[in-house]
Amino acid sequence: MNQADFPAAFLWGAATSAHQVEGGNVNSDWWDFEHRPDTAARESSGDAIDHFHRYADDFALLRSMGHNAHRLSVEWARIEPARGEFSRAAIAHYRRVLTALAGAGMTAFVTLHHFTLPRWFAAAGGWLAPDAVEAFARYCRRVAAELGDLMPYVCTVNEPQMVALHGYLEGYHPPGITNPTLWKRAGQVLLEAHHGAVRAVRDASPRSRVGLAVNLPLLAPARNDDACWSFHRLMRHEIVDRYLDGLTGPDRGDWLGVQYYRKQWVDPASPTFFADPPEGFRRTQMGWAVYPDGLRQVLHRAAETGLPLYVTENGIATEDDTERVEYLRTHVAAVARAIAEGVDVRGYLHWSAFDNFEWSEGYRPKFGLIAVESDFTRVPKPSAGIFTKIAMTGTLDQ
Ligand code: NOJ
Repeated sequence: MNQADFPAAFLWGAATSAHQVEGGNVNSDWWDFEHRPDTAARESSGDAIDHFHRYADDFALLRSMGHNAHRLSVEWARIEPARGEFSRAAIAHYRRVLTALAGAGMTAFVTLHHFTLPRWFAAAGGWLAPDAVEAFARYCRRVAAELGDLMPYVCTVNEPQMVALHGYLEGYHPPGITNPTLWKRAGQVLLEAHHGAVRAVRDASPRSRVGLAVNLPLLAPARNDDACWSFHRLMRHEIVDRYLDGLTGPDRGDWLGVQYYRKQWVDPASPTFFADPPEGFRRTQMGWAVYPDGLRQVLHRAAETGLPLYVTENGIATEDDTERVEYLRTHVAAVARAIAEGVDVRGYLHWSAFDNFEWSEGYRPKFGLIAVESDFTRVPKPSAGIFTKIAMTGTLDQ
């Protein structure tokens, strides 16, 4: 195909989340999970990359690299450290953060829930508590009321399907449950939490555009047999269709975030529910199979919702930055192809701006365009320069 061309108003940037970059998020369920003796997490998030104190320099750096948008999350555990008690200091902190971001000339995508919960909410039953949706909506309303003027784009819940899958079926994220019934229930609640948050944000900040970010792997059966196909149907329903088809009615939101990393083969015979990628696929530090055209395909599926789309995450864990350059170029090309085929994609936010805390995997996987040294010095990688060229020219043709 021809080289990519993107509209002038296309948003280009990178994404992070609070727990993965801020550091010292001690009042959250993740902090507890990291420090349990039997934890599935390799190491503590600790100081992360100290973005909590370095956000202004970080934004200036990203802006100097041509980014015109940035996705980050605000931390519920800081903003509401005890049920119904909102921290004025935490809200003031995020006001400074979002003011710095706007001042740097970048459009903010602000996620309200990116995997972490306040300790009190988790202790009360987390997403399975009877008042979970209501408690989340109250927090969302407060954030929108306090910070809505600085939040042009609000993302309610990051990857509800992965919260449900990792936390309630696979058990390697908090609350560490492995129960198929609770897995499905948690997923349903998270979707309701999205709808409740859409209402809350619209009430308190009518000008903010609200959306949901879903992780859409390209799923395939591991083998061509009946058991695999029927498991594939179940997983596709639970991981993809239930969420996309659930985006109906007045509270569905204004846009949809698509997060794509890989192709995955479902396997009912595997204890992890997925088979290893077949020969011939490049694998990342996470063991994930690289498959650029999958991004084009899932964008088409997401477009069936009728919502405008943003790629709110896409990236690769690798120590070899030339692999990242290749991944970036081929996946941005897949977005261009989807646009040329009529899909309404309005932005691309790379995961991630910086190497950061990759949840249970700790600091080993390197997803960043920018490396972070042990004294927190930021060092842009060559891929960051390639991304800058793409962002500044709106084309892959250099
Ligand atoms: C999805 C999550 O939103 C993000 O937190 C995570 O680091 C990346 N994918 C990579 O696994």
